[in-house]
Amino acid sequence: MAAERVHVPFPVGVLGATGTVGQRFIKLIAAHPYFRLHALGASARSAGRPYHQAVKGRWKQTTAVPASARDLVVQECVPDRFQGCVVIFSGLDADVAGDVELAFRASEFAVFSNAKNHRRDAQIPLIVPLVNPAHFAIIPHQRSVQTPRLQRGFIVTNANCSTTGLVIPLAALEKKYGPLDAVLVSTMHMDIMDNVIPYIGGEEEKLEWETAKILGGLTQDGTSFNLRAESPLRISASCSRVPVTEGHTETVSVRFSHRPPPSPQQVRETLAEFSTEAQSLRVPSAPQHAIIVHEDNDRPQPRLDRDSQDGSCVHVGRIRQCAVLDIKFVVMSNNVAIGAATSSIMNAEIALSKKIIISPDS
Ligand SMILES: NC(=O)c1ccc[n+]([C@@H]2O[C@H](COP(=O)([O-])OP(=O)(O)OC[C@H]3O[C@@H](n4cnc5c(N)ncnc54)[C@H](OP(=O)(O)O)[C@@H]3O)[C@@H](O)[C@H]2O)c1
Repeated sequence: MAAERVHVPFPVGVLGATGTVGQRFIKLIAAHPYFRLHALGASARSAGRPYHQAVKGRWKQTTAVPASARDLVVQECVPDRFQGCVVIFSGLDADVAGDVELAFRASEFAVFSNAKNHRRDAQIPLIVPLVNPAHFAIIPHQRSVQTPRLQRGFIVTNANCSTTGLVIPLAALEKKYGPLDAVLVSTMHMDIMDNVIPYIGGEEEKLEWETAKILGGLTQDGTSFNLRAESPLRISASCSRVPVTEGHTETVSVRFSHRPPPSPQQVRETLAEFSTEAQSLRVPSAPQHAIIVHEDNDRPQPRLDRDSQDGSCVHVGRIRQCAVLDIKFVVMSNNVAIGAATSSIMNAEIALSKKIIISPDS
């Protein structure tokens, strides 16, 4: 099925527009076939300044500040300043995202968040667009339990960037071979020099419970998540900071519930063939290949692979037998693209296609 026809351009706002994730939103939305930048928000430190001045000296993208963002004046993150937008993409710092995103939802905006604050909420879906867009089905219920009941507003969150890289291959394996029983994962994150720091606060817990929420289904009445109560997946995660600017690497070992488990060659073929609802809907940001399987022993690598398909897919390599569980492999994904901004944008494209986003003048 092709994506529903969308009335373009569709005005959108970006909260946290000056940060790492916000800048990637600006770059992607400026070139997007449906969305047009309409309002930008950040802290009081940036508010009141034209966007190009607010990001002067800290613009991290490889292309210049897009013309459509340059002269937009950065606003404080209050709903009144975002009138005319229907969709809000949030790259806000977690210290403020919680209340700000609730205020935008209450003002009937469709909010796509990257922050951790609402990921555990019982009515807010945690959607990795290449895995569980079926969870959009809870949005009518989310609207109905707000006081007052909402007509158009909702919040959808993305997963943590490492969870996103992990769950895409896990979903492909479960789709073909049934429930996984156990996963061991070690992640390697960015941004230190000449060191490895074997601790990232809260990260290991997020990988463990987010995976269960994403891979579990919705209950039959569509009002809650089943969190895999019947087939609990045991995950043990270890997360470290390493000197890489962009791209998260994860070493993963999995054990399947059904015996005998698949061979490394079967796993290779299953991952390479994995196709997703986002691709069948043909939304603009969906990658041609959800998972790129590498044969060379020294791949994937962040520097060589993080920008392929604009960072919208996951890379898997070194698929081999595991002497303790069943199969082990290496995953690499772009934390700012599929791990953040690209996921939000693909979620919004899917939500439009499923008519979850309702424009006030539709
Ligand atoms: N970086 C990643 O790889 C990644 C991946 C996935 C998810 N995330 C999540 O995405 C979010 C943004 O991450 P980031 O790395 O882009 O952070 P960042 O670079 O520190 O950017 C934070 C943004 O929040 C704004 N902000 C800070 N305090 C504010 C306040 N009091 N009121 C309004 N705006 C405020 C900042 O505005 P000013 O510039 O004006 O201070 C900036 O635009 C976080 O929740 C993070 O956990 C990040």
